[in-house]
Amino acid sequence: MRLLLLGPPGSGKGTQAQRLAAMTGARHIATGDLVRAEIGAGTELGRRIKDYNDRGDLVPDELILGLVRPYLTKGSWILDGLPRDEAQARALDEMLKEMGVGLDRVIVLVMPDDALIMRLLGRVQSVATAKTYHVTYDPPPQDDPGPFVRRADDTPEDVRRRLEIYHAETEPLQRYYAGRGLLRQVNTRGPIDTVAAAILQAVDDDPARPTPGHRVKGPG
Ligand code: AP5
Repeated sequence: MRLLLLGPPGSGKGTQAQRLAAMTGARHIATGDLVRAEIGAGTELGRRIKDYNDRGDLVPDELILGLVRPYLTKGSWILDGLPRDEAQARALDEMLKEMGVGLDRVIVLVMPDDALIMRLLGRVQSVATAKTYHVTYDPPPQDDPGPFVRRADDTPEDVRRRLEIYHAETEPLQRYYAGRGLLRQVNTRGPIDTVAAAILQAVDDDPARPTPGHRVKGPG
């Protein structure tokens, strides 16, 4: 299975990718995690991309594509966080073509902006396990020792900026993938396990057959 997860910040891409990776054995590739790891390690690249990440802006294409390229192997994976715009989508197509592999499905996680903001402002991540939780909706279990920290870009101002970028640049990608019959939308306003089950059902859905009630939102 090679799966793309698209969706606005806070829609649950990371949460669902972690869950689906554990269920299916596919590798979870999260471009945001790659970016934060590079910054945390204090590398030259990390220093170059830190300001973009901290203010909620996209990292330049050549840097993000260089970061993700080694992870796009021929095995099963779930890609979370790329592409963010049409230029990245075309570059990803090119990389996959060179490798001789195709995408099986593109899932868009759908949720209204006001609910996304509530999710992001309550998100915490465990330093020990790197797992993501929510202080109210998905509290850390007792066996995760923590400590639990918030992300630098989860401030109200940065969240608004990330949502603006998503709606302007990433959301239109739905048309790009819908045209190939790869796209399915999944509503993420429900318990995490219910959403995971809905994604797996959408992954199995026949690409030639439109999902009942399937709609593609976006400009144009
Ligand atoms: P990235 O880390 O990808 O951030 P993002 O796209 O803004 O998405 P998030 O990680 O914030 O949200 P998510 O959808 O994964 O939500 P989560 O599962 O955590 O990117 C960060 C930065 O890196 C970018 O701003 C940019 O600078 C750079 N970058 C990354 N990729 C790039 C690219 N391709 N090009 C250029 N730059 C790039 O869930 C959120 C919260 O909700 C959690 O607390 C969770 O517990 C809770 N939750 C999840 N699901 C549910 C549910 N069903 N019910 C209740 N609570 C839930």
